[in-house]
Amino acid sequence: MSKRTIVSMPGDGIGKVVLDETIRVLDAAGFKADYVEGDIGWEFWKSEGNPLPQRTIDLLAEHKIALFGAITSKPKDEAFLELNDEMKDKGLVYSSPIVGLRQHFNLDICARPTKSYLGNPLNFIRRGADSGIEEPEVDAVIFRQNTEGLYGGVEWSDPDEQVYDAFMTHPKFKKNFGNTPKAEVSISTRIFTKTATERILRAAFDHAKEYGYNSVTLCEKPNVIRETSGMMYKMALKMQAEDYPNIELWNTNIDAQMMWLTKNPENYGVIVAGNMFGDIISDGFAGLIGGLGFACSAQMSADGIAVFEPTHGSAPKYADYDVSIVNPIAMVESACMMLDYIDEKEIATKIRKAVADVINEGETRTYDMMKMSGRPDVIERGAASTTQMADAIIAKL
Ligand code: NAI
Ligand code: MG
Repeated sequence: MSKRTIVSMPGDGIGKVVLDETIRVLDAAGFKADYVEGDIGWEFWKSEGNPLPQRTIDLLAEHKIALFGAITSKPKDEAFLELNDEMKDKGLVYSSPIVGLRQHFNLDICARPTKSYLGNPLNFIRRGADSGIEEPEVDAVIFRQNTEGLYGGVEWSDPDEQVYDAFMTHPKFKKNFGNTPKAEVSISTRIFTKTATERILRAAFDHAKEYGYNSVTLCEKPNVIRETSGMMYKMALKMQAEDYPNIELWNTNIDAQMMWLTKNPENYGVIVAGNMFGDIISDGFAGLIGGLGFACSAQMSADGIAVFEPTHGSAPKYADYDVSIVNPIAMVESACMMLDYIDEKEIATKIRKAVADVINEGETRTYDMMKMSGRPDVIERGAASTTQMADAIIAKL
């Protein structure tokens, strides 16, 4: 096996520890790689006024594959106050480097698998028809459009005249908002393009085909959001009919889906949605399999650039504990998605099996798996540290 170069971007807070422990697991599983560290996050905002320095963009452009921990984001004004004094007069405005990375490299396909592990005490349970407790198996992959929609960043408060006048040409805007003073109006747009919509739909159908799921569920709201959700639904119908006749297309609304996901999560396999609804529904499903400590993701561009990250953030309140208590599994699982992507499936399978064994055995559990609140004393109370969890996974390899 030739040696790969992986860009490692620990970022802030717990991003560092979960990434370090994950690289230890990858090494132990026999994955041969050199890691080059990419600077990203709060530290670089404070010192350089840029949380995503050009050198990091260059590194990713060169090596194409990255593992990312998490970053800390703060509101604009707070960010300004923390900026290094020499930078304060440069007119810099903070924006999230991970969103910047997604947009720069057009990482438009986001996949978030949620699969329950046997023996995980955090798995969703419900009462069955005979009053007994049921633990439905959850195995859903959410395909979230990652670059446009409501997170596309095209927004205004008190828009300038030109923008306002353009909106006033829309009869509904004129009728419903035309009497509101302009200064009171904030607008966030939801822009979908055909190219990006086609790509996320196809990624979902292809995944269903490759991994043997018999349905794809489009989770939007086409009955109300007629233009964007409506376009996506029409395109999904056409794609299914033309290219995926053996896979059913289900159409659910985001609100109803949030209810169904706890009534019958076992019915859903591949789910596809726009940016915001994809974000919502993937957190919903993640909650059924143990929450943020288990939620992994891949973000991929059309030209082979891919970033793998847990969906949790930097959890700053746990970042400075002497002994780290957070669960590294979401990061480890994200690394397994990277291994799948670069065709190291055997190593990925080995690591996933080791994780499954540790969870099923139940001897090593981080505080979240013991339903404790995350204080430093959880270790004395029997919870595993981040390092101990990684050690337990390594021992099973
Ligand atoms: P968060 O995901 O960092 O933490 C929320 C809570 O989830 C934590 O307090 C902790 O109880 C739990 N948690 C998170 N990761 C865990 C793990 N690996 N093991 C066990 N428990 C875990 O979200 P929060 O507190 O809303 O945001 C903190 C910072 O992270 C903010 O600055 C936010 O902007 C940023 N953030 C960054 C993301 C990214 O880098 N992609 C995503 C989400 C938030
Ligand atoms: Mg989210």
